[in-house]
Amino acid sequence: MSTQTQQAVAMSREEVERRVRELGPWFHNLDLKGVQTAPEHFLGDYPRAKWVRFAHALPADLTGKTVLDIGCNAGFYALEMKRRGAERVVGIDSDETYLAQARFAAELSGLADGVEFRRLDVYDVGALKETFDLVLFMGVLYHLRHPLLALDLLHAHVVKDVLVFQSLQRGSPRVEELEADYPFEETEIFNQPGYPKLHFVEREYAHDWTNWWIPNRACAEAMLRDAGFELLAHPEGDVYVCRRGPVKPGQRAVYPTR
Ligand SMILES: C[S@@+](CC[C@H](N)C(=O)[O-])C[C@H]1O[C@@H](n2cnc3c(N)ncnc32)[C@H](O)[C@@H]1O
Repeated sequence: MSTQTQQAVAMSREEVERRVRELGPWFHNLDLKGVQTAPEHFLGDYPRAKWVRFAHALPADLTGKTVLDIGCNAGFYALEMKRRGAERVVGIDSDETYLAQARFAAELSGLADGVEFRRLDVYDVGALKETFDLVLFMGVLYHLRHPLLALDLLHAHVVKDVLVFQSLQRGSPRVEELEADYPFEETEIFNQPGYPKLHFVEREYAHDWTNWWIPNRACAEAMLRDAGFELLAHPEGDVYVCRRGPVKPGQRAVYPTR
């Protein structure tokens, strides 16, 4: 156990409360030695309340597996993967504030060994130069100006086997059965609620200017398939478990590999 972990584990509740305040505001509501980090979260006990609805869809034993958590925030999912025995967990996020929370949570929970939190943008996953058995891409797609590029990059660089994906969805939950092609004169199909649609947020949504593109269900599923992911399970409203498959011949991410 590192000195940092020993110090964290030995912290009193008052010290934890003070550190949690210093590191805030928090998006993840974690339970750190009985201290809730975001007890007033607008989605309730988040993300635990969501996790309990799809936890069964992931392997209970991750012994020997490597995991990448993209947009890890304060590390809730990364630490759950470590609790399941993953050999190595890498959490990346573009926001250093959240990474500091994640590191503190890992130390305090005694889970820091084999867990690494790095500042890295999803567009730069090529820099990891590593593929992972399990990649989590939860709650990030709609925060991106270039969502399909991000999925292409995950496929090209980091997903070895399984991708767990979640995105906010808006619009119809219907999924229209589509033909392979339509003539130029066909316009009505675009008005079908179950046609894939990505809603562009020019200003703000939910008081958050970082929301850019919000898919309907058909679009989220179509984008995953188109980026080369086979949908294996849909265990919860907007959560998908996917397997890496082939992409169309000639299709690749238009972004330099670094
Ligand atoms: C809504 S939170 C989701 C957190 C967590 N994955 C979950 O599902 O609970 C979005 C997270 O993605 C991070 N993020 C946003 N844009 C990103 C980007 N371009 N690259 C990496 N992380 C990003 C944010 O800093 C934030 O921590």
